[in-house]
Amino acid sequence: MSEKKVYRFPEGFLWGSSTSGPQSEGIVAGDGKTRSNWDAWYQQEPERFFDQVGPEQTSTFYQHYQEDIQLLKETGHTVFRTSIQWSRLMVDGVGQVNEKAVAFYRQVFQGIVAQGIKLIVNLYHFDLPYALQEKGGWENKETVYAYERYARTCFDLFGDIVDTWITFNEPIVPVECGYLGDYHLPGVIDAKAAALVAYHTQLASSLAVKVCHELHPEHRICIVLNLTPAYPRSDSKEDQDAARIAELFQMKSFLDPSVLGSYPTELVDILKRHAILPPATEEELRIIKENTVDFLGVNYYQPIRVQARSKQPSPDEPLTPHYYFEPYDMPGKKINPHRGWEIYEKGIYDIGINLKEQYGNIEWLVTENGMGVEGEDKFRKQGVIQDDYRIAFIEDHLIELHKAIEEGANCKGYLLWTFIDCWSWLNAYKNRYGLIELNLETQERIIKKSGHWFKKLSENNGFER
Ligand code: BG6
Repeated sequence: MSEKKVYRFPEGFLWGSSTSGPQSEGIVAGDGKTRSNWDAWYQQEPERFFDQVGPEQTSTFYQHYQEDIQLLKETGHTVFRTSIQWSRLMVDGVGQVNEKAVAFYRQVFQGIVAQGIKLIVNLYHFDLPYALQEKGGWENKETVYAYERYARTCFDLFGDIVDTWITFNEPIVPVECGYLGDYHLPGVIDAKAAALVAYHTQLASSLAVKVCHELHPEHRICIVLNLTPAYPRSDSKEDQDAARIAELFQMKSFLDPSVLGSYPTELVDILKRHAILPPATEEELRIIKENTVDFLGVNYYQPIRVQARSKQPSPDEPLTPHYYFEPYDMPGKKINPHRGWEIYEKGIYDIGINLKEQYGNIEWLVTENGMGVEGEDKFRKQGVIQDDYRIAFIEDHLIELHKAIEEGANCKGYLLWTFIDCWSWLNAYKNRYGLIELNLETQERIIKKSGHWFKKLSENNGFER
Protein backbone atom coordinates (compact mmCIF):
# COMPACT_ATOMS: atom_id res chain seq x y z
CA MET A 1 0.00 0.00 0.00
CA SER A 2 1.34 3.43 -0.88
CA GLU A 3 2.32 5.72 1.96
CA LYS A 4 0.10 8.58 2.96
CA LYS A 5 1.20 12.11 2.21
CA VAL A 6 0.82 14.88 4.77
CA TYR A 7 -0.58 18.18 3.50
CA ARG A 8 0.38 20.70 6.17
CA PHE A 9 -0.46 24.36 5.58
CA PRO A 10 1.65 27.41 6.54
CA GLU A 11 1.55 28.50 10.16
CA GLY A 12 -1.42 30.76 10.90
CA PHE A 13 -3.38 29.51 7.88
CA LEU A 14 -7.05 30.30 8.49
CA TRP A 15 -9.80 27.67 8.40
CA GLY A 16 -13.46 28.57 8.31
CA SER A 17 -16.46 29.39 6.20
CA SER A 18 -18.47 32.13 4.58
CA THR A 19 -22.11 33.05 4.60
CA SER A 20 -24.11 36.18 3.87
CA GLY A 21 -26.75 38.22 5.70
CA PRO A 22 -29.51 37.70 3.12
CA GLN A 23 -28.90 33.96 3.04
CA SER A 24 -28.75 33.31 6.76
CA GLU A 25 -30.51 35.92 8.88
CA GLY A 26 -34.16 35.65 7.91
CA ILE A 27 -36.73 38.30 8.68
CA VAL A 28 -38.54 38.71 12.00
CA ALA A 29 -41.58 40.92 12.50
CA GLY A 30 -40.55 44.25 13.98
CA ASP A 31 -36.83 43.89 13.19
CA GLY A 32 -36.89 47.11 11.18
CA LYS A 33 -35.52 45.55 8.00
CA THR A 34 -36.69 47.22 4.80
CA ARG A 35 -37.07 45.44 1.47
CA SER A 36 -34.16 44.28 -0.62
CA ASN A 37 -34.35 43.42 -4.32
CA TRP A 38 -34.71 39.75 -3.29
CA ASP A 39 -37.56 40.37 -0.83
CA ALA A 40 -39.40 42.33 -3.51
CA TRP A 41 -38.80 39.77 -6.24
CA TYR A 42 -40.07 36.96 -4.05
CA GLN A 43 -43.23 38.97 -3.34
CA GLN A 44 -43.70 39.49 -7.07
CA GLU A 45 -42.83 36.01 -8.37
CA PRO A 46 -42.60 33.38 -5.60
CA GLU A 47 -42.89 30.57 -8.16
CA ARG A 48 -39.42 31.37 -9.45
CA PHE A 49 -37.88 30.26 -6.15
CA PHE A 50 -37.26 26.55 -5.56
CA ASP A 51 -40.21 25.09 -3.60
CA GLN A 52 -41.39 28.70 -3.24
CA VAL A 53 -39.12 29.27 -0.25
CA GLY A 54 -38.28 32.94 -0.03
CA PRO A 55 -35.69 35.12 1.69
CA GLU A 56 -37.71 35.71 4.85
CA GLN A 57 -37.27 32.06 5.80
CA THR A 58 -33.49 31.85 5.65
CA SER A 59 -31.61 29.97 8.35
CA THR A 60 -32.88 32.00 11.36
CA PHE A 61 -29.41 33.26 12.30
CA TYR A 62 -31.15 36.41 13.56
CA GLN A 63 -32.65 34.39 16.40
CA HIS A 64 -30.01 31.63 16.75
CA TYR A 65 -26.73 33.48 16.34
CA GLN A 66 -25.48 32.60 19.82
CA GLU A 67 -25.97 28.88 19.24
CA ASP A 68 -24.50 29.23 15.76
CA ILE A 69 -21.37 30.94 17.04
CA GLN A 70 -20.88 27.97 19.37
CA LEU A 71 -21.20 25.72 16.33
CA LEU A 72 -18.46 27.68 14.59
CA LYS A 73 -16.22 26.75 17.51
CA GLU A 74 -17.33 23.12 17.44
CA THR A 75 -16.46 22.85 13.77
CA GLY A 76 -12.98 24.30 14.21
CA HIS A 77 -13.46 27.75 12.71
CA THR A 78 -10.58 30.18 13.07
CA VAL A 79 -12.14 32.58 10.54
CA PHE A 80 -15.72 33.46 9.60
CA ARG A 81 -17.17 35.72 6.95
CA THR A 82 -20.67 37.11 6.86
CA SER A 83 -22.29 40.25 5.45
CA ILE A 84 -24.29 43.21 6.66
CA GLN A 85 -27.62 43.66 4.91
CA TRP A 86 -27.79 47.22 3.65
CA SER A 87 -31.60 47.02 3.66
CA ARG A 88 -31.52 46.00 7.35
CA LEU A 89 -29.07 48.67 8.47
CA MET A 90 -30.50 51.73 6.71
CA VAL A 91 -34.12 52.41 5.91
CA ASP A 92 -34.45 51.81 2.16
CA GLY A 93 -30.67 52.10 1.88
CA VAL A 94 -30.53 55.86 2.30
CA GLY A 95 -32.59 56.71 5.36
CA GLN A 96 -32.21 56.48 9.09
CA VAL A 97 -29.99 53.87 10.71
CA ASN A 98 -32.00 51.01 12.21
CA GLU A 99 -30.88 50.79 15.84
CA LYS A 100 -32.13 47.19 16.14
CA ALA A 101 -29.85 46.21 13.29
CA VAL A 102 -26.92 48.01 14.91
CA ALA A 103 -27.52 46.14 18.18
CA PHE A 104 -27.88 42.81 16.33
CA TYR A 105 -24.72 43.15 14.26
CA ARG A 106 -22.69 44.42 17.21
CA GLN A 107 -23.72 41.42 19.30
CA VAL A 108 -22.96 39.01 16.48
CA PHE A 109 -19.57 40.55 15.71
CA GLN A 110 -18.59 40.76 19.38
CA GLY A 111 -19.70 37.16 19.91
CA ILE A 112 -17.52 35.91 17.06
CA VAL A 113 -14.46 37.93 18.05
CA ALA A 114 -14.87 36.85 21.71
CA GLN A 115 -14.44 33.26 20.55
CA GLY A 116 -11.06 34.13 19.08
CA ILE A 117 -12.40 33.70 15.54
CA LYS A 118 -11.14 36.11 12.90
CA LEU A 119 -14.09 38.03 11.54
CA ILE A 120 -14.40 39.29 7.98
CA VAL A 121 -17.40 41.46 7.17
CA ASN A 122 -18.74 41.94 3.70
CA LEU A 123 -20.81 45.01 2.81
CA TYR A 124 -22.72 43.68 -0.18
CA HIS A 125 -23.79 40.21 -1.20
CA PHE A 126 -26.15 40.70 -4.18
CA ASP A 127 -28.64 42.54 -1.91
CA LEU A 128 -29.58 46.00 -3.11
CA PRO A 129 -32.26 47.88 -1.15
CA TYR A 130 -35.31 47.68 -3.39
CA ALA A 131 -36.01 51.41 -3.12
CA LEU A 132 -32.69 51.96 -4.95
CA GLN A 133 -33.46 49.24 -7.49
CA GLU A 134 -36.66 51.13 -8.30
CA LYS A 135 -34.60 54.21 -9.08
CA GLY A 136 -32.46 52.37 -11.61
CA GLY A 137 -30.26 50.36 -9.25
CA TRP A 138 -26.60 50.27 -10.23
CA GLU A 139 -27.36 51.95 -13.56
CA ASN A 140 -27.96 55.11 -11.56
CA LYS A 141 -24.81 56.82 -10.29
CA GLU A 142 -26.74 57.91 -7.19
CA THR A 143 -26.51 54.28 -6.05
CA VAL A 144 -22.72 54.56 -6.04
CA TYR A 145 -22.86 57.50 -3.64
CA ALA A 146 -25.59 55.88 -1.53
CA TYR A 147 -23.31 52.83 -1.21
CA GLU A 148 -20.38 55.05 -0.25
CA ARG A 149 -22.49 56.56 2.57
CA TYR A 150 -23.59 53.10 3.64
CA ALA A 151 -19.97 51.84 3.70
CA ARG A 152 -18.92 54.84 5.77
CA THR A 153 -21.78 54.17 8.18
CA CYS A 154 -20.62 50.57 8.60
CA PHE A 155 -17.00 51.59 9.21
CA ASP A 156 -18.21 54.14 11.80
CA LEU A 157 -20.65 51.86 13.58
CA PHE A 158 -18.62 48.64 13.67
CA GLY A 159 -15.01 49.70 13.11
CA ASP A 160 -14.19 49.21 16.78
CA ILE A 161 -14.97 45.47 16.44
CA VAL A 162 -14.37 44.70 12.77
CA ASP A 163 -10.98 45.34 11.17
CA THR A 164 -11.23 43.27 7.99
CA TRP A 165 -13.77 44.17 5.32
CA ILE A 166 -15.06 43.18 1.91
CA THR A 167 -16.56 45.73 -0.46
CA PHE A 168 -18.55 43.34 -2.70
CA ASN A 169 -19.07 39.62 -3.16
CA GLU A 170 -18.82 38.44 -6.78
CA PRO A 171 -19.81 41.75 -8.41
CA ILE A 172 -19.82 40.18 -11.88
CA VAL A 173 -22.70 37.88 -10.91
CA PRO A 174 -25.46 40.52 -10.68
CA VAL A 175 -24.16 41.90 -13.99
CA GLU A 176 -24.31 38.53 -15.73
CA CYS A 177 -27.49 37.32 -14.04
CA GLY A 178 -29.42 40.59 -14.05
CA TYR A 179 -28.32 42.34 -17.27
CA LEU A 180 -27.19 39.49 -19.50
CA GLY A 181 -29.62 36.88 -18.17
CA ASP A 182 -32.75 36.37 -16.14
CA TYR A 183 -31.62 35.13 -12.71
CA HIS A 184 -31.40 38.38 -10.73
CA LEU A 185 -33.47 41.55 -10.98
CA PRO A 186 -34.02 43.34 -13.32
CA GLY A 187 -33.61 40.29 -15.61
CA VAL A 188 -32.90 42.05 -18.91
CA ILE A 189 -30.44 41.52 -21.74
CA ASP A 190 -28.78 44.85 -22.23
CA ALA A 191 -25.02 44.94 -22.74
CA LYS A 192 -24.80 48.71 -22.39
CA ALA A 193 -26.54 48.61 -19.02
CA ALA A 194 -24.38 45.63 -18.01
CA ALA A 195 -21.17 47.57 -18.70
CA LEU A 196 -22.49 50.60 -16.82
CA VAL A 197 -23.57 48.52 -13.81
CA ALA A 198 -20.17 46.83 -13.69
CA TYR A 199 -18.37 50.16 -13.89
CA HIS A 200 -20.50 51.77 -11.19
CA THR A 201 -20.00 48.76 -8.92
CA GLN A 202 -16.23 48.99 -9.38
CA LEU A 203 -16.31 52.70 -8.63
CA ALA A 204 -18.35 52.04 -5.48
CA SER A 205 -15.86 49.37 -4.40
CA SER A 206 -12.90 51.72 -4.90
CA LEU A 207 -14.71 54.46 -2.96
CA ALA A 208 -15.30 52.05 -0.07
CA VAL A 209 -11.58 51.18 -0.06
CA LYS A 210 -10.79 54.92 0.03
CA VAL A 211 -13.17 55.66 2.90
CA CYS A 212 -12.00 52.64 4.87
CA HIS A 213 -8.36 53.65 4.57
CA GLU A 214 -9.17 57.25 5.52
CA LEU A 215 -11.19 56.32 8.60
CA HIS A 216 -9.20 53.31 9.77
CA PRO A 217 -5.73 53.18 8.20
CA GLU A 218 -4.97 50.02 10.18
CA HIS A 219 -7.94 48.10 8.75
CA ARG A 220 -7.69 45.86 5.70
CA ILE A 221 -10.20 45.69 2.90
CA CYS A 222 -10.65 43.43 -0.10
CA ILE A 223 -13.09 42.51 -2.86
CA VAL A 224 -14.32 38.94 -3.34
CA LEU A 225 -14.26 37.74 -6.94
CA ASN A 226 -15.39 34.49 -8.45
CA LEU A 227 -12.33 33.86 -10.54
CA THR A 228 -13.27 31.18 -13.01
CA PRO A 229 -10.29 30.46 -15.25
CA ALA A 230 -11.33 30.06 -18.90
CA TYR A 231 -9.84 27.00 -20.56
CA PRO A 232 -9.83 26.89 -24.39
CA ARG A 233 -11.08 23.76 -26.16
CA SER A 234 -7.83 23.48 -28.12
CA ASP A 235 -4.62 25.37 -28.68
CA SER A 236 -5.84 26.78 -31.98
CA LYS A 237 -5.54 30.55 -32.19
CA GLU A 238 -9.33 30.93 -32.45
CA ASP A 239 -9.99 28.93 -29.27
CA GLN A 240 -7.19 30.71 -27.41
CA ASP A 241 -8.66 34.08 -28.42
CA ALA A 242 -12.07 32.91 -27.21
CA ALA A 243 -10.63 31.99 -23.79
CA ARG A 244 -8.71 35.24 -23.48
CA ILE A 245 -11.82 37.30 -24.20
CA ALA A 246 -13.95 35.18 -21.86
CA GLU A 247 -11.46 35.95 -19.06
CA LEU A 248 -11.51 39.64 -19.93
CA PHE A 249 -15.25 39.78 -19.26
CA GLN A 250 -15.58 37.28 -16.47
CA MET A 251 -12.40 37.77 -14.50
CA LYS A 252 -10.35 40.80 -15.44
CA SER A 253 -13.28 43.25 -15.55
CA PHE A 254 -13.07 43.51 -11.74
CA LEU A 255 -9.70 41.91 -10.97
CA ASP A 256 -7.61 44.40 -12.92
CA PRO A 257 -9.18 47.62 -11.63
CA SER A 258 -9.41 46.25 -8.07
CA VAL A 259 -5.82 44.98 -7.86
CA LEU A 260 -3.91 46.89 -10.54
CA GLY A 261 -5.98 50.07 -10.56
CA SER A 262 -6.87 50.10 -14.26
CA TYR A 263 -8.92 48.27 -16.88
CA PRO A 264 -7.32 46.00 -19.50
CA THR A 265 -6.90 47.94 -22.75
CA GLU A 266 -8.38 45.11 -24.81
CA LEU A 267 -11.58 45.17 -22.74
CA VAL A 268 -11.87 48.95 -23.13
CA ASP A 269 -11.33 48.57 -26.90
CA ILE A 270 -14.07 45.93 -27.19
CA LEU A 271 -16.55 48.07 -25.25
CA LYS A 272 -15.65 51.08 -27.42
CA ARG A 273 -16.10 49.05 -30.59
CA HIS A 274 -19.64 48.21 -29.53
CA ALA A 275 -20.28 51.77 -28.33
CA ILE A 276 -21.03 50.61 -24.80
CA LEU A 277 -18.02 52.01 -22.93
CA PRO A 278 -19.42 53.70 -19.80
CA PRO A 279 -18.67 57.40 -19.56
CA ALA A 280 -15.96 57.73 -16.93
CA THR A 281 -14.56 60.99 -15.62
CA GLU A 282 -10.85 61.48 -15.02
CA GLU A 283 -11.58 61.93 -11.34
CA GLU A 284 -13.36 58.55 -11.18
CA LEU A 285 -10.53 56.77 -12.96
CA ARG A 286 -8.11 58.38 -10.52
CA ILE A 287 -10.18 57.05 -7.59
CA ILE A 288 -9.98 53.55 -9.09
CA LYS A 289 -6.25 53.91 -9.72
CA GLU A 290 -5.42 55.10 -6.21
CA ASN A 291 -7.65 52.81 -4.17
CA THR A 292 -6.69 49.24 -4.88
CA VAL A 293 -7.50 46.47 -2.41
CA ASP A 294 -5.21 45.27 0.38
CA PHE A 295 -5.86 41.61 -0.40
CA LEU A 296 -8.24 39.52 -2.44
CA GLY A 297 -11.01 37.02 -1.72
CA VAL A 298 -11.40 34.28 -4.31
CA ASN A 299 -14.52 32.17 -4.73
CA TYR A 300 -13.88 29.10 -6.80
CA TYR A 301 -16.48 26.52 -7.79
CA GLN A 302 -15.94 25.74 -11.43
CA PRO A 303 -13.91 26.72 -14.48
CA ILE A 304 -15.35 27.90 -17.79
CA ARG A 305 -14.48 26.00 -20.93
CA VAL A 306 -14.84 27.85 -24.18
CA GLN A 307 -14.28 27.58 -27.88
CA ALA A 308 -14.40 29.92 -30.84
CA ARG A 309 -17.89 30.53 -32.18
CA SER A 310 -18.88 27.99 -34.78
CA LYS A 311 -21.23 30.45 -36.50
CA GLN A 312 -21.15 34.18 -37.05
CA PRO A 313 -23.43 36.09 -34.68
CA SER A 314 -26.77 36.96 -36.25
CA PRO A 315 -27.20 40.71 -36.83
CA ASP A 316 -30.33 40.58 -34.64
CA GLU A 317 -28.61 38.80 -31.77
CA PRO A 318 -28.44 41.01 -28.66
CA LEU A 319 -24.88 41.68 -27.63
CA THR A 320 -23.54 39.48 -24.83
CA PRO A 321 -20.01 38.17 -24.15
CA HIS A 322 -21.05 35.12 -26.19
CA TYR A 323 -20.66 37.30 -29.24
CA TYR A 324 -16.98 36.35 -28.90
CA PHE A 325 -17.04 32.72 -27.74
CA GLU A 326 -19.27 29.80 -27.02
CA PRO A 327 -19.26 27.35 -24.15
CA TYR A 328 -17.42 24.11 -24.68
CA ASP A 329 -19.05 21.06 -23.14
CA MET A 330 -15.98 18.88 -22.62
CA PRO A 331 -16.74 15.17 -22.84
CA GLY A 332 -15.80 13.22 -19.72
CA LYS A 333 -15.63 16.21 -17.41
CA LYS A 334 -16.25 15.56 -13.71
CA ILE A 335 -19.50 17.11 -12.64
CA ASN A 336 -21.56 17.76 -9.53
CA PRO A 337 -24.88 16.50 -10.89
CA HIS A 338 -26.95 18.40 -8.30
CA ARG A 339 -25.63 21.78 -9.31
CA GLY A 340 -24.59 20.96 -12.86
CA TRP A 341 -21.22 22.56 -12.24
CA GLU A 342 -17.96 21.01 -13.39
CA ILE A 343 -15.54 19.96 -10.66
CA TYR A 344 -12.00 20.82 -11.70
CA GLU A 345 -9.69 21.00 -8.72
CA LYS A 346 -6.68 22.20 -10.67
CA GLY A 347 -8.48 25.51 -11.28
CA ILE A 348 -7.57 26.59 -7.75
CA TYR A 349 -3.88 25.92 -8.46
CA ASP A 350 -4.05 27.88 -11.72
CA ILE A 351 -5.67 30.84 -9.93
CA GLY A 352 -2.90 30.85 -7.30
CA ILE A 353 -0.18 30.82 -9.92
CA ASN A 354 -1.92 33.48 -12.03
CA LEU A 355 -2.22 35.81 -9.02
CA LYS A 356 1.42 35.18 -8.24
CA GLU A 357 2.68 35.85 -11.73
CA GLN A 358 0.30 38.50 -13.07
CA TYR A 359 -0.97 40.32 -9.97
CA GLY A 360 2.12 40.96 -7.88
CA ASN A 361 1.52 37.86 -5.75
CA ILE A 362 -1.20 39.71 -3.88
CA GLU A 363 -2.28 38.08 -0.63
CA TRP A 364 -5.53 36.16 -1.03
CA LEU A 365 -7.93 33.84 0.71
CA VAL A 366 -10.19 31.21 -0.73
CA THR A 367 -13.43 32.85 0.41
CA GLU A 368 -15.80 30.24 -1.10
CA ASN A 369 -15.49 26.72 -2.42
CA GLY A 370 -17.96 23.97 -1.77
CA MET A 371 -20.33 21.33 -2.96
CA GLY A 372 -24.11 21.71 -3.06
CA VAL A 373 -25.94 18.39 -2.85
CA GLU A 374 -29.66 17.69 -3.11
CA GLY A 375 -31.39 15.15 -0.88
CA GLU A 376 -28.62 14.61 1.66
CA ASP A 377 -31.05 12.86 3.97
CA LYS A 378 -30.38 9.60 2.15
CA PHE A 379 -26.80 9.67 3.45
CA ARG A 380 -27.89 9.71 7.10
CA LYS A 381 -26.59 6.98 9.44
CA GLN A 382 -27.26 7.03 13.19
CA GLY A 383 -28.73 10.48 12.84
CA VAL A 384 -25.71 12.07 11.13
CA ILE A 385 -25.32 12.88 7.41
CA GLN A 386 -22.26 10.97 6.19
CA ASP A 387 -21.12 13.45 3.56
CA ASP A 388 -17.89 11.73 2.53
CA TYR A 389 -18.29 13.29 -0.94
CA ARG A 390 -17.94 16.75 0.63
CA ILE A 391 -14.80 15.74 2.53
CA ALA A 392 -13.32 14.32 -0.68
CA PHE A 393 -14.27 17.48 -2.60
CA ILE A 394 -12.55 19.72 -0.04
CA GLU A 395 -9.44 17.52 0.20
CA ASP A 396 -9.11 17.35 -3.58
CA HIS A 397 -9.14 21.14 -3.80
CA LEU A 398 -6.81 21.55 -0.84
CA ILE A 399 -4.23 19.31 -2.50
CA GLU A 400 -4.13 21.68 -5.47
CA LEU A 401 -4.10 24.72 -3.20
CA HIS A 402 -1.24 23.21 -1.19
CA LYS A 403 0.72 22.71 -4.37
CA ALA A 404 0.20 26.35 -5.38
CA ILE A 405 1.33 27.54 -1.94
CA GLU A 406 4.43 25.34 -2.14
CA GLU A 407 5.18 27.09 -5.43
CA GLY A 408 4.86 30.51 -3.82
CA ALA A 409 1.16 31.43 -4.08
CA ASN A 410 0.26 33.87 -1.30
CA CYS A 411 -2.91 32.20 -0.01
CA LYS A 412 -3.61 32.69 3.70
CA GLY A 413 -6.77 30.71 4.34
CA TYR A 414 -9.61 28.51 3.16
CA LEU A 415 -13.26 29.38 3.78
CA LEU A 416 -15.85 26.84 2.75
CA TRP A 417 -19.30 27.71 1.48
CA THR A 418 -20.86 27.32 4.04
CA PHE A 419 -21.21 26.41 7.72
CA ILE A 420 -24.97 25.73 8.01
CA ASP A 421 -27.15 24.80 5.04
CA CYS A 422 -28.44 28.13 3.82
CA TRP A 423 -30.95 29.67 1.45
CA SER A 424 -29.52 30.30 -1.96
CA TRP A 425 -31.35 32.76 -4.17
CA LEU A 426 -33.52 31.09 -6.81
CA ASN A 427 -32.27 27.66 -5.69
CA ALA A 428 -33.47 28.36 -2.13
CA TYR A 429 -32.70 25.18 -0.13
CA LYS A 430 -32.43 22.81 -3.10
CA ASN A 431 -28.71 22.10 -2.74
CA ARG A 432 -27.19 21.84 0.72
CA TYR A 433 -23.65 23.10 1.23
CA GLY A 434 -23.25 23.10 5.02
CA LEU A 435 -20.91 21.43 7.47
CA ILE A 436 -24.02 21.51 9.62
CA GLU A 437 -27.44 20.27 8.60
CA LEU A 438 -30.41 22.57 9.00
CA ASN A 439 -33.80 20.98 9.57
CA LEU A 440 -36.15 23.34 7.80
CA GLU A 441 -39.18 22.31 9.88
CA THR A 442 -37.64 22.58 13.34
CA GLN A 443 -34.58 24.74 12.58
CA GLU A 444 -32.55 22.14 14.50
CA ARG A 445 -28.84 22.14 13.64
CA ILE A 446 -26.91 18.83 13.48
CA ILE A 447 -23.21 18.67 12.65
CA LYS A 448 -22.55 16.48 9.58
CA LYS A 449 -19.59 14.12 9.30
CA SER A 450 -17.77 16.85 7.35
CA GLY A 451 -18.21 19.28 10.27
CA HIS A 452 -16.42 16.91 12.65
CA TRP A 453 -13.77 16.29 10.01
CA PHE A 454 -13.32 20.03 9.40
CA LYS A 455 -12.52 20.54 13.10
CA LYS A 456 -9.66 18.03 12.85
CA LEU A 457 -8.49 19.63 9.62
CA SER A 458 -8.28 22.97 11.37
CA GLU A 459 -6.64 21.60 14.54
CA ASN A 460 -4.03 19.74 12.50
CA ASN A 461 -3.61 22.61 10.04
CA GLY A 462 -3.86 20.04 7.27
CA PHE A 463 -4.60 16.42 6.60
CA GLU A 464 -3.07 13.15 5.47
CA ARG A 465 -4.03 11.25 2.37
C1 BG6 B 1 -21.75 31.76 -4.71
C2 BG6 B 1 -22.47 32.86 -3.95
O1 BG6 B 1 -21.50 32.18 -6.00
O2 BG6 B 1 -22.42 30.56 -4.85
C3 BG6 B 1 -23.35 32.33 -2.83
O3 BG6 B 1 -21.57 33.81 -3.43
C4 BG6 B 1 -24.13 31.12 -3.30
O4 BG6 B 1 -24.20 33.37 -2.41
C5 BG6 B 1 -23.14 30.04 -3.74
O5 BG6 B 1 -24.99 30.62 -2.33
C6 BG6 B 1 -23.80 28.73 -4.16
O6 BG6 B 1 -24.74 28.95 -5.15
P1 BG6 B 1 -25.97 27.99 -5.40
O7 BG6 B 1 -26.79 28.67 -6.40
O8 BG6 B 1 -25.45 26.68 -5.85
O9 BG6 B 1 -26.66 27.80 -4.09
